[in-house]
Amino acid sequence: GEAVTLFDAVGGEPTFRKLVDEFYAGIATDPLLRPMYPEEDLGPANERMRLFLIQYWGGPNTYSAQRGHPRLRMRHAPFRIGPAERDAWLSHMRRAVDSLDLPPAIASELWNYLERAAYFMVNVMEDP
Ligand code: HEM
Repeated sequence: GEAVTLFDAVGGEPTFRKLVDEFYAGIATDPLLRPMYPEEDLGPANERMRLFLIQYWGGPNTYSAQRGHPRLRMRHAPFRIGPAERDAWLSHMRRAVDSLDLPPAIASELWNYLERAAYFMVNVMEDP
């Protein structure tokens, strides 16, 4: 039969909703990262992130239906992402992943991807 995706294994949409809500609760209070978000309302950014992660992990392809090919490095080019921004982003994501209480092997798979993706998104090598 069909392979079980990570999307299914973690409990589907509600789990990604919780992950991304926890993440954005951290972003909302972050003095370095919050000013980078162009919109006052973080709701639309929350939804884009949730739909992207759902699609990446084998759930519905709603992200690309709405936004096209992810091209995430290109979409992040307008933002100055150095090591400090990357580490702040990862700190909120770490808390969000921990809040899910997933089985350790699944939490590691999710985290390893997020950490690699965050390093890949860096586009400024030096802090000011
Ligand atoms: C969009 C910051 C890493 C996924 C954005 C936006 C900002 C931002 C400011 C625009 C908000 C919006 O959608 O209106 C950062 C910073 C990062 C980072 C500071 C630090 C490394 C990542 C990583 C991923 C990711 C690692 C994926 C694993 C996304 C997605 C969008 C987005 C899916 C929406 C793209 C779109 O459809 O327009 N990010 N990001 N980001 N980010 Fe990041």
